[in-house]
Amino acid sequence: MRHGPNAATARAYSNIALIKYWGKRDSALNLPAVGSISITLDALYTDTRVTFVSGLEQDKIEIGGRTTDPARFTGFLDRIRQHADITARARVESWNNFPTGAGLASSASGFAALALAATQAAGLNLSPRELSILARQGSGSAARSIFGGYAEMHRGERDDGTDAFAEPLLDADAWPLDVVVAITATTSKSVNSTTGMQDLDQRSDYYDAWVGHAETDLAAMREAIEDRDFARLGALSEMSCLKLHGLMLSTRPGLIYWNAATVAAMHAVRQLRADGVGVYFTIDAGPQVKAVCQPADTDRVVAALEQVPGVLEARRSGLGPAAHRLD
Ligand code: PMV
Repeated sequence: MRHGPNAATARAYSNIALIKYWGKRDSALNLPAVGSISITLDALYTDTRVTFVSGLEQDKIEIGGRTTDPARFTGFLDRIRQHADITARARVESWNNFPTGAGLASSASGFAALALAATQAAGLNLSPRELSILARQGSGSAARSIFGGYAEMHRGERDDGTDAFAEPLLDADAWPLDVVVAITATTSKSVNSTTGMQDLDQRSDYYDAWVGHAETDLAAMREAIEDRDFARLGALSEMSCLKLHGLMLSTRPGLIYWNAATVAAMHAVRQLRADGVGVYFTIDAGPQVKAVCQPADTDRVVAALEQVPGVLEARRSGLGPAAHRLD
């Protein structure tokens, strides 16, 4: 592909949090109430091409070939235009290699790819940390997809959000793990994460406990990663996932992201474990189940999840690299 000087194409990979983020300490700047730790997935990615075109009346956003309302993107692109001192509107073409908006973290890979492609197309050369801060303003989890392997997102303390960024914890090669994604639905989720997270302090009696225990969970996960202790990493991720869904269930009105196949897949993972296979589930704001395992067990996990009624596909993934340019 050939690009003019005002264009750039980037790829960013999706990630799943092992210690989950949910809740904001500031909505305008999208500052998370808690930190999070994630792994980046090589099988799920977004490719985004951004071209700044003079004379274009408004930003034109296409996701998977379909024109999308630019509202969610124009504010994000405005920050970049302001920083780069340009006024041209952008043409954004984006492709996910997986279903969009169904709890497969398309906003994570999407905003990470957009942050990199748009800043490069605008002639800016941001550091990974600056990119992470920018990506966060599109979607909290996107801050982590700037990095490969294992990454930690800091909640930060400052009001301006300059200390709310992700950082790499460990390279993918340093400790390869696999994730089997059991896809149980391909339709968009009913309540998006922004809406689901709104005013949680007033909508859930469990919220203070969630925020209050976050640092302990993060410290334990950091230790498990440092020690390459898979059983501990797995147990902590399953716990953080169930705690997140407990919080979601406790929210007024209650958020139920699971379907019948989600629950069946969770039981299948626990059955595998009872049979001696080291595998643990985690689930985001959607019905898909991600089973985390060590590469020697992946075939067995795929075979078991494919058998679960309602599982449409069990897609295997390794750990992915950092966001990068394609052109
Ligand atoms: O990135 P957001 O704002 O869509 O929030 C993502 C929240 C979870 O996926 C449920 C958890 C996480 O830390 O990724």
